[in-house]
Amino acid sequence: MYHKMANTEERLRQLKAFDESKAGVKGLVDDGITKVPSIFICKPEDPSAENIPSFGNPTGQHRFSIPVVDLGDVIAGRPAKVIQDIRRAAESVGFFYVVNHGIPKTVLEEMLEATRGFHELPREVKAEYYTRDPKRKVKYFSSYNLYESKFAAWRDSLFCDMALEPLDPQELPLVCRDITMEYSNQVHKLGVTLFELLSQALGLKPNHLISLDCAKEHLIASHYYPPCPEPELTIGTANHSDGTFITILLQDHIGGLQVLHENQWIDVIPMPGALIIISNDKFVSVDHRVLAKKEGPRVSVGCFFRPATSDNSSRLYEPIKELTSKENPPIYRTITTKEYFTEYYKNSINEVPVLKSLKL
Ligand code: OGA
Ligand code: NI
Repeated sequence: MYHKMANTEERLRQLKAFDESKAGVKGLVDDGITKVPSIFICKPEDPSAENIPSFGNPTGQHRFSIPVVDLGDVIAGRPAKVIQDIRRAAESVGFFYVVNHGIPKTVLEEMLEATRGFHELPREVKAEYYTRDPKRKVKYFSSYNLYESKFAAWRDSLFCDMALEPLDPQELPLVCRDITMEYSNQVHKLGVTLFELLSQALGLKPNHLISLDCAKEHLIASHYYPPCPEPELTIGTANHSDGTFITILLQDHIGGLQVLHENQWIDVIPMPGALIIISNDKFVSVDHRVLAKKEGPRVSVGCFFRPATSDNSSRLYEPIKELTSKENPPIYRTITTKEYFTEYYKNSINEVPVLKSLKL
């Protein structure tokens, strides 16, 4: 049983105090806390805590390894092999590394460094960016659904909405301004390549997913997971699947990211220079989470390709006609972008994943 906190008023007071500090989890760590505050405590019975090694349920040595797709084969004139590899990886796991993706290692390293740089700014400087206002394009905050979730996450994030109508670089914090623009351009190009390959992996024309605006908008999330004094009591990111078309993830060397595959939590071992791709639906929409760790800070950068929000929120998303037939009827209903986001946010962080709520 999940025990309600004895005093919900006291909990709300603590949540507010934490939010109003505008200093995030990093601020608590800087203050020298040695115990995880109660608002972060995840009960062992919670599904997110399942099999956290420190809860006494070792993940075990699973022989499974996460697929690696070598995009170098595209350049070397062997796209067919890459398409097949992507199809297999996206259908079976929904999660794969890409190597030889064309983004220089220096760009990846600088992006991680700038993420650390932002989160390690003096708290007064960072506080200027702290907001939950959905209209702001650049937002820093801790715990996306702080007031609704059962426990707060052990991480801070900076979100930059790199929408079609270009973000004015001046809105970005100086420490990460140039590299975020650079990374955004490069990761967008990689996204286009991946959508072309994924379209072909689905048996469609290369530009099919692009023509559905899949690469039109992307959001860059620069995450910071401070070292945690009691990692067995909390979690960096609770179980969730991303409500995106695809996510491209860059992580540093600390580790802690896990994916759920065949009911086992698999560690996503950091692979220098590799990016991680998370696919969604016909392609598996995989559950994943990030453990809190004594080591750190850990930094990661997620790039979420998602339905356009800025200009055309009445665009319809529906099962791809070419992929449905009498024998293979659609399993999801048609939805507008606006409705999609309403569903996504309503479910806080995926207590009912958005796709499930659209099942016919
Ligand atoms: C996410 C996510 C994983 C990570 O932001 O959706 O799953 O490694 N991040 O930070
Ligand atoms: Ni995710």
